[in-house]
Amino acid sequence: MALNKVAVVGLGQMGRGILQVCAQAGKETYGFDSVPGAGEKAVAFASKNLDDRIKKGKMTEDQKKQILGNIKLVNKMEDLKDVDLVIEAVFEDIKIKIDVFKKLDEICKPECILASNTSALQATPMASAVKRADKFIIIHFHQPPTHMKLVEVVRALQTSDATGQAAVQFCKEIGKEACDIKVDCPGFLTNRTMAPLLNEVAYCVYEGVATKEDIDKAFINGFNWPVGPVQLMDFIGLDTVQHVLEDLHIRRGGDKYCMCPLIGNMVAAGRLGVKNGIGFYDYRRK
Ligand SMILES: NC(=O)c1ccc[n+]([C@@H]2O[C@H](COP(=O)([O-])OP(=O)(O)OC[C@H]3O[C@@H](n4cnc5c(N)ncnc54)[C@H](O)[C@@H]3O)[C@@H](O)[C@H]2O)c1
Repeated sequence: MALNKVAVVGLGQMGRGILQVCAQAGKETYGFDSVPGAGEKAVAFASKNLDDRIKKGKMTEDQKKQILGNIKLVNKMEDLKDVDLVIEAVFEDIKIKIDVFKKLDEICKPECILASNTSALQATPMASAVKRADKFIIIHFHQPPTHMKLVEVVRALQTSDATGQAAVQFCKEIGKEACDIKVDCPGFLTNRTMAPLLNEVAYCVYEGVATKEDIDKAFINGFNWPVGPVQLMDFIGLDTVQHVLEDLHIRRGGDKYCMCPLIGNMVAAGRLGVKNGIGFYDYRRK
């Protein structure tokens, strides 16, 4: 099953990176977001990233032109009727995602695979919302998608082997390394294990165990992390961290995922992280 025409629905932090990655791999890449102007911002983001590569001598102007030429922005979902694969990257909210998938199910050709980039929601309830449950799968990119090689591929109970194989093959074609998750469990592998760690780090900030700068330095110097965990939460987005923890808390139970009140306060104060200029750190000054 060749997946050459791809659509990305939701062009925020993750979607815009996925859009670039697919276009860069030579896929005919469609982009849709419900907010006017989000598509243009996503293309500008890709253009700037590609300029950086040109400056470093890793790409030519012609290659950039070709990549951007692979991107087609659309203003309505109906224009996605001919694509082979849709990757959904809207807000981490099961109701919004199911609503998007139900619409796509009506619009897209029957053989089209519907994939979610959810951080932690299970695949099976989303698959159950569409008529083509065998063609539903999770393809979970990591932030930033333009740099991170890892993609978790998670099958719903109903996902067919053909869909699973096509998704893994697609990941290879766009230069990613797929981790084949064998069980449709909340949080899969990476967020299941990372969320409690980030939550504990938020508690350390909340309790004043050390400054946020020192906490980040501790992980960079002590564990060789490229960025510290406080800044990582800013990169992920505090709203996404909150959704992931709340969902894992409900679905896995116990107190392991019981969210630090500081995370809820940050979201309530609109301090979502890099995406809106301020989170634990202030990015507006840079
Ligand atoms: N941020 C991360 O580090 C990260 C990593 C992996 C996966 N994810 C997952 O990716 C998804 C997107 O996260 P994000 O950080 O990019 O969020 P974001 O808030 O930056 O972007 C979401 C985008 O979806 C758009 N959108 C919302 N509803 C829509 C709809 N009905 N139709 C079309 N577009 C719609 C919004 O306008 C926005 O541009 C979430 O499920 C999240 O859990 C996030």
